[in-house]
Amino acid sequence: MNIVLLGAPGSGKGTLGAQLSQEYGIPHISSGDIIRAQIASKTAFGLQVKDLIAEGKLLADTHEQMGRLFQLIEERLSRYDCRNGYVLDGVPRTLWQAEWLHRSLASRLNVAVLLETSDEVVVERLRNRVICSACKKVYASAPKQCDSCSSIYFDVREDDAPAVVKERLQIYHQNIQPVISFYEQNKVLVHVNGNRDRKEVLALAKKQLFHIGYLLDRIPFYQPKHIKFYNLVEMYKDAMLVRHITNSFSERIGWLKPDYIAAPEARALPIFGALMYQNNLPGIFIRKAGKLPEGAQKLSAAYQTAYSTDTLEMNYADLRDKTVVLVDDGISSGGTTLAMIHLLQSAGARVVGIFAVVRYTYRDPEPAFLAWREKTHTLFELR
Ligand code: AP5
Ligand code: MG
Repeated sequence: MNIVLLGAPGSGKGTLGAQLSQEYGIPHISSGDIIRAQIASKTAFGLQVKDLIAEGKLLADTHEQMGRLFQLIEERLSRYDCRNGYVLDGVPRTLWQAEWLHRSLASRLNVAVLLETSDEVVVERLRNRVICSACKKVYASAPKQCDSCSSIYFDVREDDAPAVVKERLQIYHQNIQPVISFYEQNKVLVHVNGNRDRKEVLALAKKQLFHIGYLLDRIPFYQPKHIKFYNLVEMYKDAMLVRHITNSFSERIGWLKPDYIAAPEARALPIFGALMYQNNLPGIFIRKAGKLPEGAQKLSAAYQTAYSTDTLEMNYADLRDKTVVLVDDGISSGGTTLAMIHLLQSAGARVVGIFAVVRYTYRDPEPAFLAWREKTHTLFELR
């Protein structure tokens, strides 16, 4: 997913960009950072724009200034680490830039996030902002030591002087409305309240990025036997979506602190593997009937699907006093899940959480499953 971050100076673009980068494994690319690196290296371009930056003015939409910046950005976007997407922060700031970017990136731009942060909050935040001299990590106020690289040296940005901040805010408000309208017309704009704390801002952005439409764009459906069948395996083609799913589940699994993760074959297995690794937990693999070696000591449970009756099996294990979370790709009536719960309980385990990417709402839950609804976490609802 390719993301553009819009917002006033100090609105939190750099902060959210770094969070999204970490969350989804895509690089955060900031036009301001690129320019500051050019200034630090004393390139011809850097020297040309140095004073503009210090005064809080924008680079001109000309071949020499923005043309050169776009060239540097394009070079950066063509690198291998951008293959699954990127977060671009600080571009565009004018309608000319938005149109340029649109022509250049064409269909590759998926979403523009507008961080709505009030001027008062911005002024307050920029008053104390410092940047680690060594690794460039941004802090709201100077810590004793950088928690990333241990450096004890911090810089203040020249353009954070209160008078320059005022100028930057004024320029932002003069230029941004046509950019907002441009993305609104292209139906890719989402709004995030930037006044909230960092955790909340990230949560709001994540919710907007991975909505039901995003999932539906990626998974075809068929309609055999009058029941919609969504081909969920297609979600694995989207690295960011997979990361979104596993990170979201892992956050809750971390709270539940289970002893095991269990999953049925076969569509849930990639998520199962990722969750076992992410949470450093062992797994219990639940099989379809007839897959376990002959003579294996096993537990079995029958369940009703939309079309037939099936059986699940697992190797016998003594799971007394153990807690387990269950992971599956989708849940409809909950029949399969109930069968898995039955298997695990027969082995003595306590099921403390149920995770599924999708909840299908076209079938009513089985009465016995209602008791498990509170322990069930799903990310998307499909009809
Ligand atoms: P750039 O570096 O992009 O500056 P900016 O847009 O003015 O934004 P900032 O980097 O100052 O703020 P931010 O939104 O990243 O906020 P941050 O996360 O640091 O551009 C610099 C200059 O380059 C421009 O002025 C212009 O001259 C030139 N330029 C760049 N791109 C250009 C373009 N396309 N066209 C023309 N010229 C261009 O957060 C701010 C502070 O708040 C931090 O201390 C942070 O820790 C804190 N904070 C962040 N979020 C929160 C939160 N949720 N709660 C509490 N504190 C928070
Ligand atoms: Mg920034």
